[in-house]
Amino acid sequence: MAKLFGICSLFLLAFGVAAYAVVAYAFMPLGSLLHPDMKAVFLAHQAGIYAHIFASVIAISLGPFQFLGGLRRRFVRLHRWMGRAYLGIGVLVGGLAGLYMATFAFGGVVSKLGFASLAVLWLYTGLRAFLAIRRGKAIEHRRWMVRNFSLTLAAVTLRILLPVSGIAGIPFEVAYPAIAWLCWVPNLLVAERFFNRTDEASFKPEPLRDSA
Ligand code: HEM
Repeated sequence: MAKLFGICSLFLLAFGVAAYAVVAYAFMPLGSLLHPDMKAVFLAHQAGIYAHIFASVIAISLGPFQFLGGLRRRFVRLHRWMGRAYLGIGVLVGGLAGLYMATFAFGGVVSKLGFASLAVLWLYTGLRAFLAIRRGKAIEHRRWMVRNFSLTLAAVTLRILLPVSGIAGIPFEVAYPAIAWLCWVPNLLVAERFFNRTDEASFKPEPLRDSA
């Protein structure tokens, strides 16, 4: 029951943030909902922000499916193709564009370093997950994907922390640099503590039969 609740919440939060991004960036003028300084930066770097957002939407929309054991076991090829899109478009394009946009992030050097660290770790954990599965190391692959997806969920944490900081009366200029770190460091710690404790003997990876 708790597991089902967790999975439903994960899908709701991930799709909620993806829907926000699509509505705000595909159907509204760029930067409509943002601080004027961020809007100016986004208007000056449209290729970077659009590449980041639309590639990242692919990652956050596909990611939750990859952790459904039943789906993975029954449709191994689908898992592989979704994984390739998740890593090859979502994380690679979204991460590189995110790293580029981090150099202009609102809130000064603390924000820039926070988002840049997130981008580098997103790319690094994605690469490690890919290399692990190419070598047939399914348990190692799973561990790196847990870390990687916890970082993808930084987009969810950020969207929760922004209104919470507003309700708490913290000025945006003060809150944003802190949120650039708080949106991902706790995610990674929680992922490591609660979702990467897999007992290697009890985790049965799917057989790697065909090469598709
Ligand atoms: C995990 C690695 C990620 C990194 C390093 C990253 C980095 C960034 C950066 C630097 C900005 C600009 C912030 C500013 O100018 O102050 C940004 C904005 C944005 N990112 Fe990401 N991001 C990541 C993940 C995601 C994901 C998974 C989504 C999914 C939808 C996403 C959606 C957005 C959106 C919609 C914006 C525009 C700001 C807003 O409307 O709130 N990002 N991101």
